[in-house]
Amino acid sequence: MLRDSFGRVATDLRVSLTDKCNLRCTYCMPPEGLDWLPGAELLTADEIVRLVRVGVERLGITEVRYTGGEPLLRRELVDIVTRTTALAPRPQVSLTTNGIGLARLAGPLAQAGLDRVNVSLDTLDAATFKRLAHRDRHADVVEGLAAAEAAGLRPVKVNTVLMRDVNDHEAVPLLRFCLDHGYELRFIEQMPLDAQHGWTREGMITADEILERLSAAFDLTPDDLEQRGSAPAERFLVDGGPARVGVIGSVTRPFCGACDRVRLTADGQVRNCLFATEESDLKSAMRAGASDDELAARWIAAVARKRAGHGIDDPSFLQPSRPMSAIGG
Ligand code: GTP
Ligand code: 5AD
Ligand code: SF4
Repeated sequence: MLRDSFGRVATDLRVSLTDKCNLRCTYCMPPEGLDWLPGAELLTADEIVRLVRVGVERLGITEVRYTGGEPLLRRELVDIVTRTTALAPRPQVSLTTNGIGLARLAGPLAQAGLDRVNVSLDTLDAATFKRLAHRDRHADVVEGLAAAEAAGLRPVKVNTVLMRDVNDHEAVPLLRFCLDHGYELRFIEQMPLDAQHGWTREGMITADEILERLSAAFDLTPDDLEQRGSAPAERFLVDGGPARVGVIGSVTRPFCGACDRVRLTADGQVRNCLFATEESDLKSAMRAGASDDELAARWIAAVARKRAGHGIDDPSFLQPSRPMSAIGG
């Protein structure tokens, strides 16, 4: 079991398959991109599946989420998903993606056993999308969403980061769009994880502000029927339900106390938190011939060192040296 010194148990493994991306969202990376990891540093598909197997068979991992960068850019993705859903006990397997390429891959991924997808969509307007993501791909994302729904990767969840004076006027229309299509929308507070270190507290649209904007058009009631558990989203019934909307207040309403996550970076480092300041190098151990037992022992030790919380409000807070795209969202 992966237990930390505060008694939290990690059961949800988030694996970054690549640090590369075909968008350049301003809250994540600069328009020119980043220095991508050299190919030899990336875990191979076999190495990924081996580490996931160790997590599932020996360490109590029950949910596996593949992320990036953009996970659909990883050529072996369908194969990795097929091999992950064949593990015993079978974990829940999901994907967090920007949606580009889902139109083609949603069917094969569903066939491979993928359970769900979360797709980022920050705007309904193609021009705003281009300004925000520095690429003209809005239509691809909307098509990708529809393909995921059609392939049965449900519930399709949509992640939206609202930014002041960029897309914060779109909260209500985005929710209408998602209600119309049967997607579950979650608004996310922007976190200090961008490579450019451009995050400011003033630029962040807070959970309170999000709820205020939505309440102008919808009747929201806390969804206390559903146990929140370790889910980052606070959920609300929209106009009496059954449709819901979520708010992920990572900064102003932190959920670190209930965190059940552990991460594996694309270059094989265990990170016990998005905001961890240290990593544990499973890749080098594996390439030096470590046994499954030895890998599990290193992993257990890495999680044991997890801190109480992200500490964004502490005066001594330092942004992690790796951006979100390298850590895995
Ligand atoms: P499900 O609700 O199970 O579908 O997944 P999720 O919401 O955990 O996954 P997703 O990848 O869609 O992440 C959504 C957002 O949650 C991310 O953009 C982050 O803002 C936030 N998030 C995910 N993991 C963490 C974490 O470990 N710590 C914090 N503070 N925020 C996280
Ligand atoms: N703050 C909050 N969410 C972010 N994401 C990427 N960067 C940030 C950030 N700085 C979101 C993406 C995606 C998810 C994996 O993380 O929108 O939905
Ligand atoms: Fe790509 Fe996701 Fe970063 Fe946007 S937030 S640039 S989609 S990795």
